[in-house]
Amino acid sequence: MEEAILSLQQEINAFEIRNARDLEAFRHAYTVRKGRIAALFSQLKSVEASRRPGIGQLLNALKLTADEKIEAANAAFSSPTARKSQAIDLTLPGRREFSGSEHPVQKVLGEMKQIFHAMGFSIATGPELELDRNNFDMLNFPPDHPARDMQDTFFVTRGNPGGDVLLRTHTSPVQVRVMLDNKPPIRVICPGKVYRNEAISSRSYCVFHQLEGLYIDKNVSFADLKATIFSFARQMFGTDVKLRFRPSFFPFTEPSAEVDVTCYLCGGKGCRVCKKSGWLEIMGCGMVHPNVMRNCGIDPETWSGYAFGMGVDRTVLLRYKIDDIRLLFENDARMLRQFPA
Ligand code: DAH
Repeated sequence: MEEAILSLQQEINAFEIRNARDLEAFRHAYTVRKGRIAALFSQLKSVEASRRPGIGQLLNALKLTADEKIEAANAAFSSPTARKSQAIDLTLPGRREFSGSEHPVQKVLGEMKQIFHAMGFSIATGPELELDRNNFDMLNFPPDHPARDMQDTFFVTRGNPGGDVLLRTHTSPVQVRVMLDNKPPIRVICPGKVYRNEAISSRSYCVFHQLEGLYIDKNVSFADLKATIFSFARQMFGTDVKLRFRPSFFPFTEPSAEVDVTCYLCGGKGCRVCKKSGWLEIMGCGMVHPNVMRNCGIDPETWSGYAFGMGVDRTVLLRYKIDDIRLLFENDARMLRQFPA
């Protein structure tokens, strides 16, 4: 009996536990209820009574060695590095990383730019922090025009010797900069962000995007304006859209108009988005006011031109069925991820 215990002791000592499978095999061979240590314990009954305590002690020591070995192995396999190496399942398919993509506003702006580029327009940009003069005065806004009101405009500094500074409320001041810096003929579009101090809701936000257009040459007429807008609208909204020009007023154009397209969601039949009218307003436009030309050093007797300005964000919302304009400005990855490249 002692010999059997001793040889098992040696076997247990020599057993190398390198991984979880070895550990399981070890337990199964030696320490489970029907294992080899238990088998020796069951022989204890048949041992002579006087020798039983001694042999019992040997058996207990054997059991202890085995248990300690199991405990040590358990600790090794559940150490942080061991746990980590066990947690990696190399057979799992890889997790795809999200790669950055173009923001939906930039997508739509990109399309708009491309359409005008093909018609010969180049791109001009201007600063978002603008002088009151360029945003209002040069564009023929009278001093008491309501658009200058604190309610609409974010003023940055007032009473500056160089003039008040504000966040531009439209892209039209870029027209002024282009006319001041260039001689006609001029054919530019000016895309960019604009700011208005309005109540924030799902439909309006304090910042949004506009795309301005300006064409100055000899003998430019309202018919040229119409043809350009029509060509743009057909490419942007679909070849069967109809256009409607409504008389309107802007200080910087005369005559002025607002342009509607047939609602491209319901095809002009009338729906919730177009408020049953069948039309969606897309831009303001008109012939550049002689005062604006004069302010910018261009002789309105020699040159004439048209201008237009459109909002970009509404088209983005309708195109992608987004129901809250704020989502366009929050850069929430959960939203952006839905617009893969
Ligand atoms: N700046 C105008 C606005 O923000 C839009 C606009 C209307 C621009 C008519 C133009 C124009 O160039 O001719 O509401």
